[in-house]
This record gives sequence, structure tokens and C-alpha cells, in this order.
Amino acid sequence: MAEADLREIGEIERTTGLSIWGEEAYRAELEKGNSIMLVAVSAAREFDAEQQRRVSGFIVARVTADEVHINNVAVREGARGQGLGSLLLAAALDQAKRARAQMAVLEVRASNRAAQMLYVKHNFVVAGRRRNYYKTPPEDALVMTAAL
Ligand SMILES: CC(C)(COP(=O)(O)OP(=O)(O)OC[C@H]1O[C@@H](n2cnc3c(N)ncnc32)[C@H](O)[C@@H]1OP(=O)(O)O)[C@@H](O)C(=O)NCCC(=O)NCCS
Repeated sequence: MAEADLREIGEIERTTGLSIWGEEAYRAELEKGNSIMLVAVSAAREFDAEQQRRVSGFIVARVTADEVHINNVAVREGARGQGLGSLLLAAALDQAKRARAQMAVLEVRASNRAAQMLYVKHNFVVAGRRRNYYKTPPEDALVMTAAL
């Protein structure tokens, strides 16, 4: 992820139902430089002449001691179901392992089956539940973990 991607990251965030961080929060995270921040980029062809590349998805994760926390992962609606979410997650987990993380952890809305299936595919299991963790709309979070 680079500074030039932030406008599109903000757009994806607004249209995918994620909890909103906002462009400024991503910029601050980029500047700090201690997070794993990756984008999936599609090459030009079908876009207009001005746009040479398009951000189709992104992931943000942070390693603290021996644990990586997956904060956000999203793929544009029109680009889903093609393996991008899986590629992004695998790349972030791989980078975390190289940074010596031994465990991955994340929260996911209890109703978000697609994301849960993605995580299960990458060996995550449900480790707990946080009541009313999410606002707008209020909902429980499942806590999922994976050994790396
Ligand atoms: C979750 C999300 C990132 C998946 O991205 P994607 O690129 O469509 O996922 P992939 O094509 O890589 O699919 C990987 C796996 O995820 C699961 N999956 C993806 N979409 C699914 C769906 N609609 N229903 C059930 N499982 C699904 C499947 O296990 C799939 O593996 P398979 O293709 O072998 O069956 C995407 O749906 C998204 O952006 N959702 C909105 C944002 C979000 O909810 N993020 C997670 C916050 S915790």
C-alpha cells in the first residue's frame, strides 16, 4: 500500500460495510511503518486512459510480539470470488510469520459468513465471542485465531 492508494482504500472501505477507519487513519498507519499493509492491484486495460491501475482490495494487520492482529481486509464488490481476499490474507500471514508471529487473531461480525469462510480456509477457528462488539448496526464479534 502506498500514499497514492489511499483515496481508493477509503472508497472501498465506504462501500464494503467495514467499520470506518478513514483515509487519515490509514495514512498515519502507513507513516508509522510498523503495520503490514498490502493492496491487490488490477492492471489498466478495462479502465479509462487516466487510470493505469486500480486497487481491488487491501489488508491491514499489525504484529505485536508473537501475535498478528488482522485489522481490516476487503475486496471491491465487483472483484470478489476470484481469490483476491485469499491471496491478500495469505500474503499478510506469510509476512507476519517472517516477522516471527506465531499466532493470528481477528474479530469478525457474527453474521459475516463470507469472511468467516475465508478465515476457516486459512486455518482459523472460533476462539470466543465478544457481545455487542460492533456498533451501527450493533452485533457480536466472533474472535478467531490461527496458529502460524
Ligand atoms: C470477505 C472478502 C474479503 C472475501 O474476498 P474474496 O476476494 O471474495 O474472497 P476469495 O475469492 O479469495 O474467497 C476465498 C474464500 O472465502 C470464502 N468466501 C468468499 N466469498 C464467500 C461467500 N460469498 N460465501 C461463502 N464463502 C465465501 C470461501 O471459503 C472462499 O474459498 P473458495 O473459493 O475455495 O470457496 C469479501 O467478501 C469482502 O470484501 N467482504 C466485505 C468486507 C468484509 O466483510 N471484510 C472482512 C471484515 S472482518
